[in-house]
Amino acid sequence: MNNRAHWSGRLAFILAATGSAIGLGNIWKFPYITGVNGGGAFVLIYLFCIALVGLPILIAELFIGKEGQANVVDSFNNLEDKKSNWRITGFVGLSAAFLILSFYSVVGGWVLDFELRSLLMEFSGGTNAAKGVLSELFASPYRQSIGHTIFMLLTIGIVLGGVKNGLEKWTKLLMPALFILLALLFVNSLFLPGFKDALAFLFLPDFSKLESHSVLEAVGHSFFTLSLGMGVMITYGSYLKQKESLIKTAIMVAFLDTFIALIAGLVIFSIVFTYNLEPSGGPGLMFQTLPQLFSQMTGGSLLSIAFFLLVSFAALSSSVSILEVVVNYFEETKKVARKKATLIVGFVIYLLGFLTVFSTNILADFKIFGLSFFDLFDRISSSYLLPIGGLLISLFVGWKLSLPAAVKIVGEDRKIFAHALLWILRVIAPLAIVIVIVDFVMKHIGA
Ligand code: PHE
Repeated sequence: MNNRAHWSGRLAFILAATGSAIGLGNIWKFPYITGVNGGGAFVLIYLFCIALVGLPILIAELFIGKEGQANVVDSFNNLEDKKSNWRITGFVGLSAAFLILSFYSVVGGWVLDFELRSLLMEFSGGTNAAKGVLSELFASPYRQSIGHTIFMLLTIGIVLGGVKNGLEKWTKLLMPALFILLALLFVNSLFLPGFKDALAFLFLPDFSKLESHSVLEAVGHSFFTLSLGMGVMITYGSYLKQKESLIKTAIMVAFLDTFIALIAGLVIFSIVFTYNLEPSGGPGLMFQTLPQLFSQMTGGSLLSIAFFLLVSFAALSSSVSILEVVVNYFEETKKVARKKATLIVGFVIYLLGFLTVFSTNILADFKIFGLSFFDLFDRISSSYLLPIGGLLISLFVGWKLSLPAAVKIVGEDRKIFAHALLWILRVIAPLAIVIVIVDFVMKHIGA
C-alpha cells in the first residue's frame, strides 16, 4: 500500500506501545501525584478515567493511525481524502510533544544521575546516605544539564535508528527487563512494615482529601500515562499492518500500563510509610524514597544500580515515542531526511529543556501563574493539550468516521459493542473531558 516502515509483528508493536505508555509517568509521576492528591480517592477517579476515557481514545488513536497510514497530521487528511480541518488535532499533539519531551528529558536526566550515584555506591550505609542527594541535584544546574544532555542524546540516537532498528529493537530488550525488576522490588515491599499502610493509602478512598484540581489532574494523567492526545498512538498505529486487530492490543496496553503504575505506587508508598516520609513530597518522591530503602537493604547497592538503569530504560522507551511523532511529521510533510529531522527537532527540544533545568535553581523564583517553568510545561501539556487532543480524536472517530469505523474496529458480528464504543467516543468521553476542563477553569476564574 505504501512504503512506510512497519513493525515486524504484533508482539513488536505491543512492546513498543507499552514501552511508550509505561515510563516515568508510571514510576515517577503516578505515585507523586497520588500522594499530593491524597491517595485512594484520586486513584479511584484515575481508574475510571482509564476505563471510560483513556481506553476508548487509545483505540480511536490507533485506528486513525492504522487506517490513515501517515504522520499525526496527514493521517487525518488521508481519512477524509482531502485537507481535513481535523488535522489541527495533529498540531495540538505536536506542540504537546515539544513541551513534554523538554521536561521529560530533564527528569530522565535525574534518573541517570541517580544511576551514577548508585554505581558509585553513594546509597549505602544507612538512611542518612540517601538524604540531601535530591536537593543537591536540584540546586545544581550543571549536574542536571549533564543528565539532560545524555538522556536527550540517547533518545536521539535510538530515533535515528528508525522504526525497526531503533524503536523496536530497543523496546524488545528494555521492557521485559523492567517487568522483572519491578516484580522483585514488589516482592521485597511485601515484607516492609509500611506495606499495609500503602495498600490503605492507595485503595481506601477518602473523598474529603480531594481538591478541585484533582479530577483534572486524574484526567490529564490518564492521557499522559497512556501516551494519548499527542499522536504517539497515531504514529505507532500507522506502522501497523492492516490486518492487525486493535481492541485486544489496546486493552493489553491499557491494562499493563495501569498495573505497572499500581505496583510502582505500592512499592514507593511502602517505603514512604516504613520510613515515615511525606506522601505528598511532590516530584522528588521517587528519588527520595528508593535510595532510602536501597541504603538499608542487604544487596541494596546492586538493586539500586539495576533499578535506576531500568527506570531510565522505561523513560527512554517513552521519550523516543515522543520524538518519533515530531520527526515522522517533518520527515513526511517537509521531506527532510530522517537524520536531519531527528537532529534538528531533538536539538530544539533539548534547548527548551533548560527552562526546566533552571526552574529548581537559577529561575526558582520566576513564576508564571504561580508555576515554575517545569510545572507550567507539565500543566499546559498534561492538563490541557493532551485532553484537548484526545477530545478532538474522540469526536473525529465518533462523529466524522462514525459507525463504519466502529464496526471496523469491533468486528461485523458484534454490532452492539460497536454502538457502545461509538457513543462513548461521541458523547461520554468528550463530555467528561469538557466538564473537567470547564469546571476547573470556572473555579479559577471565580477564585
Ligand atoms: N506515557 C509516558 C509515561 O507514562 C509519557 C508520555 C506522554 C509518552 C505522552 C508519550 C506521550 O511515562
